[in-house]
Amino acid sequence: MSSSANDLTEKPGFNPFIDATGENHVAPDLWEPYLIRKEQIDDEIERLVNSPKPENGRRRSYFVHPLSQSPGRGLAAGITVSLDVLLPGESTSPIRHNSTQVNFCIQGSGHTFVNGQRFDFKQYDVWNHISFATYTHHNDTDDIQVRLTYSNAALLEKMHVHIVEEDPQHADIKVVTDVEDEDPRKQSPYGSFQLTKEGAWLMPYETLINPPSVESKNLHWPWEMVKENLDKLAALGKDYIGRRLYLLYNPMTGRTNGITPNFFATMTIRPPGIIDRPHRHVSAAINYYFKGSGYSIVEKKRYDWKAGDLMLSAPGWAIHNHASDEESVYELTVQDQPLNIIMESLLWQEALNKPAIILGQHSGFQTNRDNKV
Ligand SMILES: [Fe+2]
Repeated sequence: MSSSANDLTEKPGFNPFIDATGENHVAPDLWEPYLIRKEQIDDEIERLVNSPKPENGRRRSYFVHPLSQSPGRGLAAGITVSLDVLLPGESTSPIRHNSTQVNFCIQGSGHTFVNGQRFDFKQYDVWNHISFATYTHHNDTDDIQVRLTYSNAALLEKMHVHIVEEDPQHADIKVVTDVEDEDPRKQSPYGSFQLTKEGAWLMPYETLINPPSVESKNLHWPWEMVKENLDKLAALGKDYIGRRLYLLYNPMTGRTNGITPNFFATMTIRPPGIIDRPHRHVSAAINYYFKGSGYSIVEKKRYDWKAGDLMLSAPGWAIHNHASDEESVYELTVQDQPLNIIMESLLWQEALNKPAIILGQHSGFQTNRDNKV
């Protein structure tokens, strides 16, 4: 008899059950923060600059947390961050993948083609790449170009479903909206309908395989424009107790407040001498500081940072707060909050003497700022 398609089923001696009878759940091990200093990043940039040009043009290193394990080694458990360098005159080969990205130029300038759309970017500009978009990066300047790229590749790799196509030859897939298949044999005559008075529904197969499409756009946030608005927040004065930040909002992410369906990206200006209140959240936060200096207290340990440092500042659920020294701080924060909102997993404890709530399900927190300011 030929072996069955599921050879693992026949594997002798493997017990597919783990006995958990009466077992209480143990709290997860929190990751420690991890700080990569400007000097280390500069050395790595130099190493990439002096390496031979690879065939695909991508001079790239990944930032890896010491506790992360393959597959999907990231700077946080579900967040990949890479350091990407292009020399003057260089370009990358086309690529596409089912991970989404936040691109952040930290040095030099250049342009990117994504799905045929051109973005000219400068230092501290941010732009997102939607899933399965074909893109190339270009450096047509006389200076070295350095980008940080944040993506959910680590999470997809852990799920064993990160699909990457080098030099894709296929035409881009069109997003089709509001088109019904006219063949009546393919349509359930009943459609979707409410089953119970409490609100449980039934949905037929054709809706399952053709959910409503939402247009996803590649969007660009030029630093010059973001900074102008951020500086107005700085002027709000000491009476405002909220964070002086703007979220780089991609409207397709709806109520999850993202730049991609996985991540939010915020630009913060931290006035001198501001100390945040300690708090914690399930989402993991990675900060890149590009002006000023300060420190973070994470799980009672102090970490000093300065402009040019990259830090996993808030590993999920670790109690933390940040403080600026005597100069204003600018920082980009990338956090996997939208993913946690959609999963209903975003426990957030804004004040440690009050209970944690699920953000996006329970009502959220408020600052003292008048909405009309
Ligand atoms: Fe935080």
